[in-house]
Amino acid sequence: MATAVVRISAETIRARKDGVPIVCLTAYTYPVARLLDDHVDLLLVGDSVAMVLHGHKTTLGASLEMMIAHGQAVMRGSAKACVVVDMPAGSYETSAVHAVASARRIVEETGCQAVKLEGGVDVAGQIAAIVAAGIPVMAHIGLQPQSVEKDGGYKIKGRTPENVAALMRDADAVEKAGAFSLVIEGTVETVAADLTRRIAIPTIGIGASSDCDGQILVIDDMIGLTVDRVPKFVREYADLRSVVAEAAARYAAEVRSRTFPGPAHVFSAKTGKDNA
Ligand code: KIV
Repeated sequence: MATAVVRISAETIRARKDGVPIVCLTAYTYPVARLLDDHVDLLLVGDSVAMVLHGHKTTLGASLEMMIAHGQAVMRGSAKACVVVDMPAGSYETSAVHAVASARRIVEETGCQAVKLEGGVDVAGQIAAIVAAGIPVMAHIGLQPQSVEKDGGYKIKGRTPENVAALMRDADAVEKAGAFSLVIEGTVETVAADLTRRIAIPTIGIGASSDCDGQILVIDDMIGLTVDRVPKFVREYADLRSVVAEAAARYAAEVRSRTFPGPAHVFSAKTGKDNA
């Protein structure tokens, strides 16, 4: 008899501090979740979906409805990975009450294991309230894409003593508020390593340090499907841009030359086969 697959919980991720590195990727769709589920510990339905799949200029284009729809698709496509859904800008900053209501909607409508939100000291109250409501929270400090307009661009963090001190305060605040893990993005390598040693919850790096307790990349960046700018911290493990362009070119040529569809792709009146 086949044994049922047990989904990885946020608590299991928390317990992986200082252990085998935690493998995380973003996922936004059912087929990609199906393909990644066997290989990762955690799938993040990141608000990067607004840029990657919907063509917005920044993650500020993400809405709660968008995150929930993609969260549902990723939950349908995965059985093992811990699924975390991003709280979009505007769904949590103003008050703890609003943050809890938004987090509850995400978890109830998707069935995901946890939510993620950006910020440190400034959102510690929201994290504590969401955790008190029984919903695990992944925090996110360093470069925060939801603050890109305020920051005047995608600026690397941890370059000044004042900023390093602020990052330390942010890490302490989200740990104290009860976050089960912490994404550190776009932060000077040594600072990300120091933050990892400083706190007792796992850190997940992106443009941070190989000393972090885990790593995450945006799936489309990692498979070479990103058509706009690819950040310096990405390693492309495949070149799907070329694969897609070559397939489209071959298909176009075969349609124009009437070599597609071929005999195997059409239905003869004689065979009586009804299913496509
Ligand atoms: O939205 C996202 O994809 C993220 C990851 C890059 C950490 O927040």
